[in-house]
Amino acid sequence: MTVQTRRIVDPPTLAREFAKDFAAWVEKQNHDKISVALSGGSTPKILFELWASEYADSVDWSRLHFFWGDERCVPPNDSESNYGVAKALFFDKVRVPDENIHRVHGEADPEQERVRYEEEIRSIVSSDENGIPRFDLMLLGMGDDGHTASIFPYQRELLQSPRICEVAQHPVSGQTRITLTGPVINASAKTVFLVTGAGKKEVLADVIHHKGAFETYPASYITEGDVVFYVDEAAAEEL
Ligand code: 6PG
Repeated sequence: MTVQTRRIVDPPTLAREFAKDFAAWVEKQNHDKISVALSGGSTPKILFELWASEYADSVDWSRLHFFWGDERCVPPNDSESNYGVAKALFFDKVRVPDENIHRVHGEADPEQERVRYEEEIRSIVSSDENGIPRFDLMLLGMGDDGHTASIFPYQRELLQSPRICEVAQHPVSGQTRITLTGPVINASAKTVFLVTGAGKKEVLADVIHHKGAFETYPASYITEGDVVFYVDEAAAEEL
């Protein structure tokens, strides 16, 4: 288990650095069904735009299968939809085969969709020696409350759930979410956190240094495999 931190001056440069590393990482993969779980929220938007504007023809997107680490239980055309954002900024502009895009059906009944999405993941993502789906790359963000994917501080039991996906609730908005669970996230071959903004600096320092209130922050428990934090200077101020 290694946890590295890459400090980068600002969000556009961070997205540029990660996009470059990502393209090199894809080249190095020696299998064709490369599974990537995308994060939601605002931070990855710059990356999606960069993939569309500068990597449309330089990455063999047909080798990649895209999933989501979490999704809001809303229709795909809702502004809150993580799939909807990625579609508008990236998938509508780059030749990724439709069958390689594995969205969470946010419009469906959450419990039924949880089960269906687990089956879809199992049909594409190979499992590790413990029978847990092993994503090749897990992209994550971190909230200023220390949540990651949609595992919130008050629902930390999802970090140990034996299931692949769970239905979660946003602590403030009450919005229903579907999220990958701790064991699946920690089974990933490579995990990348993209974290920007001064609003996260105290929590990020606790998470990375396992100090202060780190035990209350779900992001602190994502430590297995090869973990890299790409953080901008504003978020890194307390590191
Ligand atoms: C979501 C995410 C969530 C996100 C963090 C950070 O659906 O909201 O997957 O885990 O990564 O909330 O969000 P920001 O990037 O908007 O700060």
